[in-house]
Amino acid sequence: MKMSSPAALCVFVLLASLLAAARAEDPYRFYTWNVTFGDIYPLGVKQQGILINGQFPGPQIDAVTNDNIIINVFNNLPAPFLLSWQGIQQRRSSWQDGVYGTNCPIPPGGNFTYNMQFKDQIGSYYYFPSLAFHKAAGGYGGIRVLSRPRIPVPFNPPAGDFTILAGDWFKLNHTDLKGILDSGNDLPFPDGLLINGHGSNGNRFTVDQGKTYRFRVSNVGISTSVNIRIQGHSLLLVEVEGSHTMQNTYSSLDIHLGQSYSFLVKADQPPQDYTIVVSTRFTNPVLTNTAMLHYSNSNGVPAALPPPPGPTVEIDWSLNQARSIRWNLTASGPRPNPQGSYHYGQVNTTRTMRLANSRVTINGKLRYAVNSVSFIPTDTPLKVADFYNIQGVFTPGSMPDAPSGGPAYLQTAVMASNMRDYVEVVFENAEGSVQSWHIDGYAFWVVGDGRRAVDAGEPSELQPERRDRPVHVAGVSWGVDSDIHATGQRGDVERSVGELGQAVPGPAVLPAGILAGELVARREPHPQERTALRPRLRPPDQAALNSVSVS
Ligand SMILES: *[C@@H]1O[C@H](CO)[C@@H](O)[C@H](O)[C@H]1NC(C)=O
Ligand SMILES: *[C@@H]1O[C@H](CO)[C@@H](O)[C@H](O)[C@H]1NC(C)=O
Ligand SMILES: *[C@@H]1O[C@H](CO)[C@@H](O)[C@H](O)[C@H]1NC(C)=O
Ligand SMILES: *[C@@H]1O[C@H](CO)[C@@H](O)[C@H](O)[C@H]1NC(C)=O
Ligand SMILES: *[C@@H]1O[C@H](CO)[C@@H](O)[C@H](O)[C@H]1NC(C)=O
Repeated sequence: MKMSSPAALCVFVLLASLLAAARAEDPYRFYTWNVTFGDIYPLGVKQQGILINGQFPGPQIDAVTNDNIIINVFNNLPAPFLLSWQGIQQRRSSWQDGVYGTNCPIPPGGNFTYNMQFKDQIGSYYYFPSLAFHKAAGGYGGIRVLSRPRIPVPFNPPAGDFTILAGDWFKLNHTDLKGILDSGNDLPFPDGLLINGHGSNGNRFTVDQGKTYRFRVSNVGISTSVNIRIQGHSLLLVEVEGSHTMQNTYSSLDIHLGQSYSFLVKADQPPQDYTIVVSTRFTNPVLTNTAMLHYSNSNGVPAALPPPPGPTVEIDWSLNQARSIRWNLTASGPRPNPQGSYHYGQVNTTRTMRLANSRVTINGKLRYAVNSVSFIPTDTPLKVADFYNIQGVFTPGSMPDAPSGGPAYLQTAVMASNMRDYVEVVFENAEGSVQSWHIDGYAFWVVGDGRRAVDAGEPSELQPERRDRPVHVAGVSWGVDSDIHATGQRGDVERSVGELGQAVPGPAVLPAGILAGELVARREPHPQERTALRPRLRPPDQAALNSVSVS
């Protein structure tokens, strides 16, 4: 093509250099990971673990907002393998998400290069293997996304930044565990809890007296919620999966499956060694793992106090704690401005989904279903079928928007939605166990919670109070019984207060047994806004807890 005008050429050159500059702005981080089986002894017995570059847990990814992350993963397992990046939003890169349905598995002996940008994200996350119960063999590791240097962080830089990957662990290997599920049986009770791949007393975190440290804790387990606490120290919660929270002090924190929290700990005690305790929640027996908070000047003197006891089976305690956690709307996030720009109350919900999980038997086998549909995988990943318009792999809309109560059936179920739909999701759990939901790649506001079931035909009682409540959160949320329940972000408060920066903080310390009513926002909500969603102060029904992890 002949360039007739020098001005046009100039513009072209300028544009090209601007584009180049824009690309150059966000740094690249390259990783090469070799995934192998190797011997590990997390509970004292030899097990075959999944190692990344010889490590269990795998290497930590330390990145900064907007970094481009390039990870060439060599699968040297004798089985297909995928890694998923819990909480990473994958904006415009959903095919890097590494779960069944978005990616073809990396074949044995093959390699695949993940290429993603941590666009507009900060916070604490982790990665894990998503196929074939590999997670029960390890293969997970931490992800930290730091704020860009010029973005203010709502606390002073900590003297150290520790990652705790905690979770339940089984002595049976992942193929045996998968076999138990595949044959239609329940998972056994876990054999122990691990902290960073170790059993009790396997970790020591060294601190200098008088300094403040950040701990990022993720529950990387398979089946149980955990509680974490530190002898003689309080935990100042500062972040939940990429959102800075109102900085409240807790004596211990519940962390449900898939969730990541970070808190600050000030080494303000006499120079001794203190016990960090992680224990299971809602289980009997309670499993416990301990690590050491070692003061560098302690000379190894253990603290005289007994290790702190934690909550065990109390459900309301957990719910109340979650209700006390709120987003700090005046703090920066990935960008320096206060969080959010919606007029939350004015966004119209275009659709409501009620998702009810159930434990069912199909063809004589135990299965789990949502709205009576139990998912079956196909040979062609769903995104590939979608992209190449391959017919017959799945049918959009093949999953109902509400439970019908009908018999369960198998289906490659796909819900359809329209671009820019503002969707309200109600999770319902009538099962006798904790459930975790992971809503991949989406950001949510949590708008309400409660401990009563929504019976078929009864949703009208809930809907009016929810109708114009938007759901938007970059973080974790969890649901109880019929309704969604929040940690991190509470849409009901911010919405009605109206203006940014007026979020109402929760109470500072949360003693066990506090009534939920004491934790509601200080501003009095309009009765029609919240009453139906308020937790009922009836005796807890142990059979009705549902935990939802959203990232
Ligand atoms: C991965 O590790 C295995 C076992 O140590 C080794 O044989 C193989 O060469 C490594 N592959 C790469 C790509 O580093
Ligand atoms: C596999 O690794 C090689 C480098 O050893 C790289 O050139 C190639 O692009 C990788 N393949 C994939 C699919 O990522
Ligand atoms: C898991 O353990 C069983 C024995 O209980 C063994 O047959 C199987 O090969 C093991 N699987 C792997 C991947 O090591
Ligand atoms: C919220 O963030 C602002 C801005 O960084 C900070 O000044 C304030 O102390 C924070 N509030 C709480 C309760 O953490
Ligand atoms: C919501 O719906 C109302 C009534 O139709 C309309 O006036 C308002 O503009 C809508 N809000 C948004 C954000 O679209």
